[in-house]
Amino acid sequence: MQITRKISDDIVYVGVGDKRLARFENLFPLPSGVTYNSYLILDDKVALMDTADSDVTDQFIDNIETALEGRTIDYLVVHHMEPDHGANIKRLLDRYPQMKVVGNTKIETMIHQFFDVDLTDRMVTVKEGDSLPLGKHELTFVMAPMVHWPEVMVSYDKTTKTLFSADAFGTFGDLDGALFNDEVDFPEDYLDEARRYYANIVGKYGMQTQALLKKAAGLEIEMIAPLHGPVWRSNLEYFIDKYQTWSSYEPEEKGVLILVGSIYGHTHRAADKLAAALKEEGVSKVKMYDVSKTDVSYLISEIFKYSHVVLACATYNNGIFPKMANFIHDCQALCVQNRQVAIIENGSWAPASGKLIREELAKMKKMEVLEPQVTIKSSLKKEQEEELCQLAKVFAQSLKEGE
Ligand code: FEO
Repeated sequence: MQITRKISDDIVYVGVGDKRLARFENLFPLPSGVTYNSYLILDDKVALMDTADSDVTDQFIDNIETALEGRTIDYLVVHHMEPDHGANIKRLLDRYPQMKVVGNTKIETMIHQFFDVDLTDRMVTVKEGDSLPLGKHELTFVMAPMVHWPEVMVSYDKTTKTLFSADAFGTFGDLDGALFNDEVDFPEDYLDEARRYYANIVGKYGMQTQALLKKAAGLEIEMIAPLHGPVWRSNLEYFIDKYQTWSSYEPEEKGVLILVGSIYGHTHRAADKLAAALKEEGVSKVKMYDVSKTDVSYLISEIFKYSHVVLACATYNNGIFPKMANFIHDCQALCVQNRQVAIIENGSWAPASGKLIREELAKMKKMEVLEPQVTIKSSLKKEQEEELCQLAKVFAQSLKEGE
């Protein structure tokens, strides 16, 4: 049984949705699945744009075979070698003996790393600006290193004005029969997952993403066909604007993200008090998470979203509460920057988490610490309540200043 749809007269989506995979990269929870997108261009020459994860091989091959209607594949264009897209390269090389692989030199190297294959006379090596005529369609290749691996490239079809954008503009989440962005309620149902995908997968490479956006700005693009999530055929500016914001580490929204690492709930009470004080000060967006209960990938997504952050954290083994330490480490690895941060620490005999968090923030770029830092010894007392109210005023003022 094939499940394909056309994205234009002669370009067929042959990708596959996967709701069974629990964690992307065996790391990031996938509550609503993911899609592995692949596109077949049926021109004088037939080109397949990337393959799919090994979990969905059977359906993927079915889709290709049906769309081919007895034809064969002339070119497999490999934009990215991560196995969620590259896993079936060897299988296709075996199945279609006349098929050639199109990619850059790094892609060729990685194909040999992942597979024992002979590419003699089967590799078409391309570099920045090279073109591949297919008939009516002509693909032009644009290198996009580190969006998300070093070998990544994207391609542009000037006939349909389509950018095959590899991981860029991808989204977690299966599509439930939809294919295009205008067939789903993207802001309501997909934006959070798109941000979680960007922040955790590509977030470290903001500069490289900006470089790709600059190159893309020079192309007349009417459709973006990424390797995950919906194909964009309308309102492209909306998503490109999100990418501009995320890749420049600018906050998407003014608001306060409160992250709590609490052992018995006393630190949480302090965070609750601050949240209520923020509301009293008229701060409209306040979002609180327990770092022990929420997968860190969601917290990373939220810190890419909000302008202001509170880290409320117990001291543990003379250090930062482990779940909070892990979150901060992830933020550093993903180059999170340019946020206003306040610290609430707790410790029953030697509170140290505040000082240690401050040291970690100092290693990051443009992380401004808002005062006062509030110290709790075991449980919240009247004096600290007043400090928390003072901190809420500082936040309210800081949020207003940026308006
Ligand atoms: Fe969707 Fe970096 O692979």
